[in-house]
Amino acid sequence: MKIPPEIRKQLFHINSQRRRILLLAKKNRTPFYLFDKKQFVKNVQMVKQTFEKHLPGVSLFYAMKSNPHDFLLKNLVSLGVGIDVSGAGELRAAIAAGAKKIIFTGPGKTKEELQLAIKQKEKVTLILDSFTELRRLREVMANSSLTPVIGVRVVTSRYGDWNKFGIKLTDLKRFIRVVAKVPSLRFSGIQFHMSFNMSAEPYLESIKEVAEYLKAGLSLPERNRIKFIDIGGGFMTDDAVLNFRPADFPTVPAAYYSVHFRALDDFVRPIGLMIKNSLAFLPNCVFYAEPGRLISTPAMHIVLRVLDVKDNCVITDGATNMVGWEKFEEDYAPVVNLTHPSPREKKQLTYGSLCTPHDIWGFFCFAKKVAVGDILVIPNQGAYVYTFAQNFIKEIPPVYEL
Ligand SMILES: Cc1ncc(COP(=O)(O)O)c(C=O)c1O
Repeated sequence: MKIPPEIRKQLFHINSQRRRILLLAKKNRTPFYLFDKKQFVKNVQMVKQTFEKHLPGVSLFYAMKSNPHDFLLKNLVSLGVGIDVSGAGELRAAIAAGAKKIIFTGPGKTKEELQLAIKQKEKVTLILDSFTELRRLREVMANSSLTPVIGVRVVTSRYGDWNKFGIKLTDLKRFIRVVAKVPSLRFSGIQFHMSFNMSAEPYLESIKEVAEYLKAGLSLPERNRIKFIDIGGGFMTDDAVLNFRPADFPTVPAAYYSVHFRALDDFVRPIGLMIKNSLAFLPNCVFYAEPGRLISTPAMHIVLRVLDVKDNCVITDGATNMVGWEKFEEDYAPVVNLTHPSPREKKQLTYGSLCTPHDIWGFFCFAKKVAVGDILVIPNQGAYVYTFAQNFIKEIPPVYEL
C-alpha cells in the first residue's frame, strides 16, 4: 500500500527522534504531550518565508485558539509573529507571553473584553463583528480618551453557513460612515476568515469580491481609510494535516489515504498574484493573515504507553480525553510504535483507557508487533487537540519539551 507523502514525512521525523522520545518516556510518567520545538520553529520559519515571498510586508497573527500553550506563544513572540485572540483569557495570555502585536477577533465581545482591549490599545487591533458591537464599544469608551485601532469583519458570499460572523460586505460603507463620526476611533481595515480551505480558491474569490466592492462601493477618502486587509486563517496544507477524514467509515488504510493536500506555496502564490492584480488601487494597504493549524499542527505529538494487549485490541494509558472528543473513530492519524518500529502499518485496534468504546486512537499501527510497555506516538497533534482536552475520567496530562 502506497503511503502518501504527508504521512511518510511524519513517520520519518518521529523515527528520527525515536531515541530521545523513548528516553523522555523512560524519565517521565506517560501519557504526555510533547512540544517539538525544533520542528515547530522550522515550520514557523517556512510559513513566514512563504508569506513574505508572495506578500511583501505581510503581518502574521497566530490564531492561539488552535493551541494556547505558552511554549508556542513565547516562541512565536520571539520569532516576530503576532497573536490573534478571541477572548479575554486569550488576550491576557498573549500579553503575559510578551506579545506586542495582537488582533482581537471573534463575535459577541463583552464590555469587559472591549475594556481590556482598549486598555492595551498600543498592542491590540480590535476587529469588530457588528454595528451592535460598535455601539457597545462607544458606550465603553464614553469617558475615555483612548483611541483604539479598529477594523471590522466582513462576510463575503463564500461564507455560506458561516454567516454568524461579521457584517455584510455591502454594509461596509455605512459602517465606515458611523465610525467616522466618532473622533476617538481609528478605523483601519477589514478582515474575513473562512475555515477548512483545501486550496487558494476561497481566498481568491473573496479577495476579488472585496476588491470589486471597494472600487465601486466606496469613495476615494473612504477607500483610503483601509490600511489593512486581513485574509484570516484556514489554510489546510500538507504541513497542517492533523488527521485525514475519509468519505466513508474506514476499513482499510487506502480509504484514509485518499485525501490529498497542497503545499502552502500553492495557496499563497495565487493569493499574492490576485492581490497584486485586483487591489493595486490600494497602494498603502498591508495584508494580514491569521493562521492557526498551519502553525500549531507540527508543534505537538501525543505519547502513550501500552497497558494491555487483548485478543482483539490493545489499551493505552493515555485516552482520547487528551484530544477532547472521539475524533479518531472517523478521522485517521498514524499511530507509530517506537518500541517495535516498522515502515508498514498492521491492523491493530488501539483504544485508550476511558470507560467508553468510543475511545479509539486508531485501527492500524506502524509496528512490527505491539506488547505491554510499548511506547506509541501520534504525530503532529498540535492543533485543536491540546485546546480541546478535557478532564473526563482521566486528567489532562502534562506537556514536555523534546
Ligand atoms: C477568526 C479566526 N481566525 C483564524 C482562525 C484559525 O483557523 P485555522 O486554524 O484553520 O488556520 C480561526 C479559527 O477558527 C478564526 O476563528
